[in-house]
Amino acid sequence: MSETKKLLILPGDGIGPEIMREVARIMAWMSRVRGINFDITEDLVGGASLAVHGVPIRQEVIDEARAADAVLFGSVGDPKWASAGFDLRPEIAILKLRQELGLFANLRPAKVFDALADASTLKPEVVRGLDIMIVRETVGGIYFGNPRGIETLPDGSRRGINTEVYSTSEIERVARVAFDLARKRDNRVCSVEKCNVMESGLLWKEVVTDLHAREYADVQLTHMLADNCAMQLVRNPRQFDVIVTGNLFGDLLSDLASMLTGSLGMLPSATLGAVDADGRRPALYEPIHGSAPDIAGKGQANPLAQILSFAMLLRYSFNMLEDAEMIETAVANVLASGLRTPDIMSPGMAVVGTEVMGEAVVRELDKLQ
Ligand code: NAI
Ligand code: MG
Repeated sequence: MSETKKLLILPGDGIGPEIMREVARIMAWMSRVRGINFDITEDLVGGASLAVHGVPIRQEVIDEARAADAVLFGSVGDPKWASAGFDLRPEIAILKLRQELGLFANLRPAKVFDALADASTLKPEVVRGLDIMIVRETVGGIYFGNPRGIETLPDGSRRGINTEVYSTSEIERVARVAFDLARKRDNRVCSVEKCNVMESGLLWKEVVTDLHAREYADVQLTHMLADNCAMQLVRNPRQFDVIVTGNLFGDLLSDLASMLTGSLGMLPSATLGAVDADGRRPALYEPIHGSAPDIAGKGQANPLAQILSFAMLLRYSFNMLEDAEMIETAVANVLASGLRTPDIMSPGMAVVGTEVMGEAVVRELDKLQ
């Protein structure tokens, strides 16, 4: 990793620019108070790029992403461009970035802040204190395997085909991400597949077990079938620390886990690529929510998922654990003080807009310093 911290900031469209402004406030605080400076490039993607350049993302932006140590992404999906054609949708920007940077591991934390334990549809005593991380493989598995397609049989009937394919190297690299993460957390990994009915699952389990024995024996490893994992996530989600799984199961389980928290506007994510010869790892951080066109421009979007995505960036791309924790504590304190954007509103709390929420996080940072 280079000495300077090179960041590419891509606010996107919809609420993206509004919530990214609150991250800029925190970066300004870090520079002013802690003397930490980033070398920042900012560019347009999604609807914002379509409006100026006529495409959802330019090659130049992909090059900037490659040159950066980390990318902080807002969101894309302005419905104004919905009829622009499949290759011109704003969402192409994020799909292309993931593909071009080879981002194969998607990290989705599901964390319940004490003050929001009543936001979940599950009982507060089930989710209070929840802090789990799902690592989903994102570039392989059944969404990409061959053969695939819809074919017509001699009798005129049709059949649809998708194939789950995982190679040992694909399994090993994502398992490695999970084990490394666990070491920075509660040191536990649960590997999830369906080895009872799928050969790809059998290989998955074998490769994870071997890697564990070879390099990660200090981390506690368990295995679970995917259907059981879905049940366990609802029954007793706090039993998990890091869950690692393939593309299809990860898609479902990460959405399930995130909704245990009950608040879309609170959830960050990271997507990581392979470490290169210089020890650099491409990484993109973004909230899990979309561009929320229904509230864009109204100043009421919750900026906390974007702010927490920045905290993840500090932790995983720059190993700035203290700074990451400080931001997360500031967010917890703001929630404990009763401030709520409309999406996380509950009776007796004070409704505030995007800017007031961002300012409140900075005030808490001042107190923690
Ligand atoms: P969405 O996440 O944008 O919105 C769903 C609901 O949650 C809306 O009612 C919205 O107002 C609310 N919401 C989302 N984030 C919020 C926040 N930070 N504060 C307060 N409320 C928030 O999902 P939706 O409506 O399905 O998609 C809208 C567009 O976003 C679509 O074009 C979709 O393709 C795109 N999208 C983009 C993603 C990305 O940039 N990675 C991810 C998911 C969707
Ligand atoms: Mg999904």
